[in-house]
Amino acid sequence: MSGSGGPAHVAIIMDGNGRWASMRGRPRLFGHHAGARRVREIVEACPDLGVEYLTIFGFSTENWKRTQIEVAGLMSLFRSYIRREARALRAQNVRVRFIGDRPGLDEKLQAQMDELEEMTEDCTGTNLTIALNYGGRDEVARATRRLAQDVAEGRLDPHKVDEETLPRYLDTYVLPDPDLVIRTSGEARISNFLLWQSAYAEYEFIDTLWPDFSKEIFADVVASYAGRDRRFGAVKG
Ligand code: IPE
Ligand code: IPE
Ligand code: MG
Repeated sequence: MSGSGGPAHVAIIMDGNGRWASMRGRPRLFGHHAGARRVREIVEACPDLGVEYLTIFGFSTENWKRTQIEVAGLMSLFRSYIRREARALRAQNVRVRFIGDRPGLDEKLQAQMDELEEMTEDCTGTNLTIALNYGGRDEVARATRRLAQDVAEGRLDPHKVDEETLPRYLDTYVLPDPDLVIRTSGEARISNFLLWQSAYAEYEFIDTLWPDFSKEIFADVVASYAGRDRRFGAVKG
């Protein structure tokens, strides 16, 4: 928890780019470009709101089912986002990390991701985590594979596997669990995002489409979190 009682870790399912574009009679990629431009504003708003960790869902393991044109457009958008924003992120003291199945991504994109992580390694401000080719079930499956390998090779005693063990194998092992998960665009589902990590997260489903999600709306949603009573299964009184 941050000092103010606000959410220290906010995770966002940035949804609604396609509908935002359709409403304007434009191709879906037009919406994705508008959505990418919003990211900077939301990252910049974090320090004032006491948000130390921001995790954003950029591309899911299921998003490969979209047309080749949309997928290729998104991949080239991720590459240009990194190219364009890298210096500003470092200047703003933002530490960037990526989660998801990296080997499934284009090699040039992977190289840029590695480079941005290294470039911001010593940044001590907002922790920005970008989920690319990320799926919660895929993450748990990959973690389990590595855990099983450690058991098979004698590094891990299977009798000692408990709920503290698996998270050490997840992509998010250095991050705290999210306190608040926001999904834009009016859909009330989590679409395979941070399944394990969000067991006790608060959720906010808001109607705004991602390209219209402003820092003012972000501040309102973060403020509404303060009024919630998180019990973690216990009775308070
Ligand atoms: C979210 O917007 C961005 C990605 C999933 C990459 P969508 O592309 O899902 O937009 P809608 O939901 O079709 O409006
Ligand atoms: C979730 O949105 C993935 C991202 C925001 C990157 P989708 O638009 O892919 O989710 P569904 O298909 O509506 O569940
Ligand atoms: Mg969507």
